Amino acid sequence: MAGEMLPIDKAKFVAAKRAAEYIEDGMRVGLGTGSTAAWLVRCLGEQVRNDGLRIKGIPTSTRTAELAREVGIEIISLDEAKWLDITIDGADEFDGDLNLIKGGGGALLQEKIVATASDQMVVIADIGKEVESLGNFPLPIEVIPFGWQTTQALVEETLISMDVLGRQSSLRMNGDRSFITDEGNYILDLHLNRIGHPRQLAMVLNQMPGVVENGLFIDICDAVVIGYGDGRVEVRDINEGTVEQNKIDFVETDNLFSDLQE
Ligand code: 5RP
Repeated sequence: MAGEMLPIDKAKFVAAKRAAEYIEDGMRVGLGTGSTAAWLVRCLGEQVRNDGLRIKGIPTSTRTAELAREVGIEIISLDEAKWLDITIDGADEFDGDLNLIKGGGGALLQEKIVATASDQMVVIADIGKEVESLGNFPLPIEVIPFGWQTTQALVEETLISMDVLGRQSSLRMNGDRSFITDEGNYILDLHLNRIGHPRQLAMVLNQMPGVVENGLFIDICDAVVIGYGDGRVEVRDINEGTVEQNKIDFVETDNLFSDLQE
């Protein structure tokens, strides 16, 4: 890698590196999507190749599946795994109750299915993802392409009666085309600014025809491993609060850091 790692990348990396310690031989591991989760996949790949770690990975997107294969992790489908020991994934926001907004990378549907089928879900995130209340990050919802504008209008109208500060929404784009999820659907990003009652909103959204899933992860996450730009990590557990504060020593070795710009 040319040059020093940016603090944000260091933060993501140390969170991923610490979270890799949750993984034991023989585990079925849900592999999240996004830049932080990609660090985890690389860390696990290195352990598979160098230390003989034997795991089965269940990816949450085609992107993650490709990376996992590339670094040497055996991949199986969720239906083959049936149940997972653990899922480790990134997040766009997390609050004090470890509720999350996810889906910035458009993989929220598979991510939620995989996390829900796991004994535990551990989130890895840089400290910038921590919020007082959820909603500053636009909330992604996955919608069926058929009649998506009608669904969008219904969602915006429903938001009038919800405890949110904004109710604009936008169709996620990929260049000049609609972004298409791995399941062939669209993403609407809801610009809510603040979500007063995330649990209620998550339930209401999922009751609407045309909405497949929303990016609110309520009562799913068990622990967050938070990375800081100076190499510190903090582990927050849903039951016990902050259980660890540590500093990770790392060397920017060629093999793990060469493909930083994914
Ligand atoms: C993808 C996600 C990601 O986990 C989330 O967007 C965080 O990504 P990053 O680690 O790149 O900040 O939910 O759908």
